[in-house]
Amino acid sequence: MADSIYRPDVVIVGGGVAGLTVALNLSPRKVCIITKSTLGMNTSSMWAQGGIAAAVGINDSVESHVEDTLTTAKGLADKNVILKVVTEAESIINDLENIGVNFDKNNDGSFDLGLEAAHSRNRIVRSKGDSSGIEIMRGLIKKVSESDNITVLENVSIDRIMSENNTIHGVIGRLVQENVPDNHVVIESSNVVLATGGLGGIFANTTNPRSSYGEGIALAAQAGAVLTDMEFIQFHPTGLDFGLDPTPLATEAIRGDGAYLVNQNKERFMLGVHPENELAPRDLVAQNLFKQIEQGNSVFLDCRKVSSKFEIKYPQVASYCQAAGLNPKIDLLPILPVAHYHIGGVKTDLDGKTSVEGLWCCGEVAATGIHGANRLASNSLLESMVFGRIVAKNINSSPIKKINKINPDFIVMYKEKTKNKIRAKKYIWQLRSSMMRNVGIVRNHNSIVRGLHDIIKIERESKGLSAKLNDMILVSKFIIIGAYFRKESRGCHLRSDYQNTDDNYILHFDLKFSDIDNKINEILNLADYKNRKQIVN
Ligand code: SIN
Repeated sequence: MADSIYRPDVVIVGGGVAGLTVALNLSPRKVCIITKSTLGMNTSSMWAQGGIAAAVGINDSVESHVEDTLTTAKGLADKNVILKVVTEAESIINDLENIGVNFDKNNDGSFDLGLEAAHSRNRIVRSKGDSSGIEIMRGLIKKVSESDNITVLENVSIDRIMSENNTIHGVIGRLVQENVPDNHVVIESSNVVLATGGLGGIFANTTNPRSSYGEGIALAAQAGAVLTDMEFIQFHPTGLDFGLDPTPLATEAIRGDGAYLVNQNKERFMLGVHPENELAPRDLVAQNLFKQIEQGNSVFLDCRKVSSKFEIKYPQVASYCQAAGLNPKIDLLPILPVAHYHIGGVKTDLDGKTSVEGLWCCGEVAATGIHGANRLASNSLLESMVFGRIVAKNINSSPIKKINKINPDFIVMYKEKTKNKIRAKKYIWQLRSSMMRNVGIVRNHNSIVRGLHDIIKIERESKGLSAKLNDMILVSKFIIIGAYFRKESRGCHLRSDYQNTDDNYILHFDLKFSDIDNKINEILNLADYKNRKQIVN
C-alpha cells in the first residue's frame, strides 16, 4: 500500500484528555489527532477513577489547594505552575459541564465532593462515582466528533518525530492493525503536540493501559528534547490483586469514604505512621504497604465500613470485585502497590513548550513541574486540561510555518524496520519484571545497577525486535540514570541506601538522548569500582 501523507496545521499524538483538550481549543486550525486504537480506548484518561481536584466546596480555597499540592510535592514543585493550574480548576469544570459532562451533585445543587489522600478537605469533583474518566472522555469525544477542523487517525502508532536542526517537520507512523513494513503514514506539520500519557507499562504491576510504556518520552528524546525528573514514578497502594494485567485500581476515594488498609492479622498498619493514617500521602502509603509485603504479610483493603452504597459510588471497582467473586461488603480485597503515574517526563515551560521548536507536550508525558516529588491525587486530569488549553492558545497565537520538503530518507529508514512482536514479548516481560524488582518502590545502588545490567542484556539479545521494546529499553535507561544519581529519598523516590531527604538534591535531573552513553558508562565504572572495593573489604 502506498504511504498516506497528511498535512494538518497541528498534529496531536494521543487521544486522552490532554490531546482532546488541545484539539478542541485549536479551532479553526486544521488538526490531526493520532491514536493507537479507537479514539479514547486504552487511555489512562478513560480509566481514571478519581476526578478533578477543585477548590469549589464551602470553606475551601485556591490557597489551600496550592498548599496541599506543595506539601505533598516535597520541595520539588514549581509554585508558579501549581498556581496557574489550580486557579483554572473551576473554569475547567464549567467548560466540561458546558459540553454535557454531568458531575455528581448533592440535593442542593452543590458538588458531591470526594476526599482523597493528602487533601485537607473534600475536594474531588467526580462523575458517576468512580467513572469520572469515562464521563469526561465521553463529553470530549462527542465534541471532537462534531468539530469539522479535527481529523482523527485511529490505529496508528508513531515511530518517529521528523526533526532537523531542532525544528519539527512532522511524524511518521504505521497502521498498527496491519503491521506490514509498507503501511506507513506520514503527517507533515510544523507543530507536533505529544499527549501520549505515561509509562506504567514499563513495570510488571501497573494500573496503566498496555499502550502506556513511555512512547512519547522516547519520541521526544530522539527528537532532541530535554527530559527531567525521570526517576519519579508514583506507585498507587491499592491495585486490586486479582491476577490481572494491567491491575485494576481501587480508587483512593474509597479510603476517603471509610475503608481501611489491613494485613492478614487485621492490623491497620498505617495507624500511627502519619496523622492521616490511611489517607497519608500516597508515597508513604505505598511504601508502608510494600514493607508489609516484604515482611511476608498479605495486605487488604477493608471496605466493610464504607459509608456509601458501594456499587452506586464505585461501580467500576464493584464490577472488578464481582468478576473476581468478591463482595466488598463482606470480603477483604487483596491489594498490591502498582506503578500508576509518571511525574517526570518531557520538560516543558509555562507555555507547554519543550526544548525543541514546534514540539509541545501536555498531560502525563510532560513534566511541567506541578507535582514535584509526589503527585497530589486528582491533580493530573486538571493539569492535562489546563495545559491542553495553554498549548492550544500558544499555537494559535503563532503563525503556522510552511514545511520544507521532507527528506525522503526519513521514510525509507522506517520501511526497513521489520517487526517481530511475538518474539519481543519475552523480552518485554523480562524488562517489566526487572524494572519492578530493581527500580520499583524501593531502590538502592545494587538494585539499580542490577536493573541496568538486565536492560543492557535485553537490548543486546533482542536486537531491535520491536519498536515498542526499543522504546521501553530507552525509557528504562532514563529512569535508571535518574534513580541512580538521586542519592536521597524524596517523595515517591525511596532509596534504602540513602533514606534521608538531602537539601543538596533540591534540583531536577535534566537528561537528553545524547547523555545516555556517558551516564551509563559512569554508572558502570562506578559500580565496578564499588563492587571491587566491597570484595577487597
Ligand atoms: C485514585 O482514584 O485513587 C487515583 C486518582 C489519581 O491518581 O489521581
